[in-house]
Amino acid sequence: MRPRIMTVYGTRPEAIKVAPVIKALEASDEFDSVTVVTGQHREMLDQVNELFGIVPDHDLNIMSHGQTLAQIFARVIEGLDPILEKEEPAAVIVQGDTSTSTAAALAAFYRQIPVIHVEAGLRSGNIHSPFPEEANRKITTQIAALHLAPTQTSRTNLVAEGVDDSTIVVTGNTVIDALLMTVDKEVAFSDYRLEELAASGRRILLVTTHRRENWGGAMEGVGRALARISREFPDIEIVLPAHRNPIVRDAVLPQLVGVENVTVTEPLAYGEFARMMSLSTVILTDSGGVQEEAPSLGKPVLVMRENTERPEAVEAGAVQLIGTDEDRIVNGVSRLLTDASAYAAMSNAINPYGDGRAAQATLFALLAKTSSASTNQEISTC
Ligand code: UD1
Ligand code: UDP
Repeated sequence: MRPRIMTVYGTRPEAIKVAPVIKALEASDEFDSVTVVTGQHREMLDQVNELFGIVPDHDLNIMSHGQTLAQIFARVIEGLDPILEKEEPAAVIVQGDTSTSTAAALAAFYRQIPVIHVEAGLRSGNIHSPFPEEANRKITTQIAALHLAPTQTSRTNLVAEGVDDSTIVVTGNTVIDALLMTVDKEVAFSDYRLEELAASGRRILLVTTHRRENWGGAMEGVGRALARISREFPDIEIVLPAHRNPIVRDAVLPQLVGVENVTVTEPLAYGEFARMMSLSTVILTDSGGVQEEAPSLGKPVLVMRENTERPEAVEAGAVQLIGTDEDRIVNGVSRLLTDASAYAAMSNAINPYGDGRAAQATLFALLAKTSSASTNQEISTC
């Protein structure tokens, strides 16, 4: 019998990053794949599954508006446990550092099912930022049986924390697989304003924001900074695909009322977003995934955070941390829009996060893990 590998995920970035792994599992002769979505995100998750043609086997459908961290965690553990009991997977894959990810890891651990952690070893060094993700990923590290690190830096972080090096495999980040599977496809924008913008050839500042630690005043400042940029640079268009979270929308969007050259859209389907990144001049974001993708496309990224668990692209010069101070955001963007040499220095296409073969590397690592486990008659949990 082939080992059954269960993948559990719940938010947009997890869905994007596990899609190549699920596709590889589905295509493999070595494994059976079973997928569980928690529905921590609803629309933004479904959008990704639809794009990659993934129909989940189980859906916990937990999302509620205003959901707390404790609610997400409790609902995932409670909903997943009977599915684990029924499906009896040989291993459970979780990705990254969301509440879904860590709660699912814990649910599997409680049933002594080995946890495979995709995108292991990212560390900001500050337990409060990003919040609660830094804590989430450290917890998952404690209970994972196999740590799939995207880079050597993340491997080093794990070893420094005492993780046994023989349980770590450097795979690259599966987000690059997802990007390469997507970016060259000819996709039309479903919002006609974006199609008109693409045809106009105007410079685009692409903006995304959602981080929990930026909610409130910091995010209002982001909105005010965008309004100022729009007044200083009437020739550019600011494109803001707004996260579905009402807390984010309530902070940012009021600052943009009556501001001319700003296009606010619903979250873009991944293919459309990848195309929009390619069309952009500068990207301003607090997203983790966008920091990893944009350097591959040669797009300078200004990150609205004080620290990052993704230092590779910063060190390579493609990403700059500018925090959430209004003046720093305005100055950072202005510099890239006016200083050609500053722009050129940041827009070299580099790929510190992989070459698009991380899903295959993940399968190899799984194969090694499950075959050594069957030789030993058991899979150890840690
Ligand atoms: C979550 C993750 C974060 C990840 C981010 C990606 C945690 C603690 N946070 O944060 O690590 O970077 O996703 O975007 O796991 N909503 C919808 N529809 C959707 C998605 C969200 O309506 O498709 C709204 C709901 O009102 C929901 C709210 O957004 O309650 C917040 O969602 P939640 O998953 O709790 O937090 P995020 O900030 O999205
Ligand atoms: N993304 C998308 N549509 C959008 C905005 C972002 O498909 O409108 C993609 C983006 O390319 C990246 C992922 O969503 O792969 C990042 O998700 P998010 O910023 O929500 O989460 P994070 O990466 O910060 O955890």
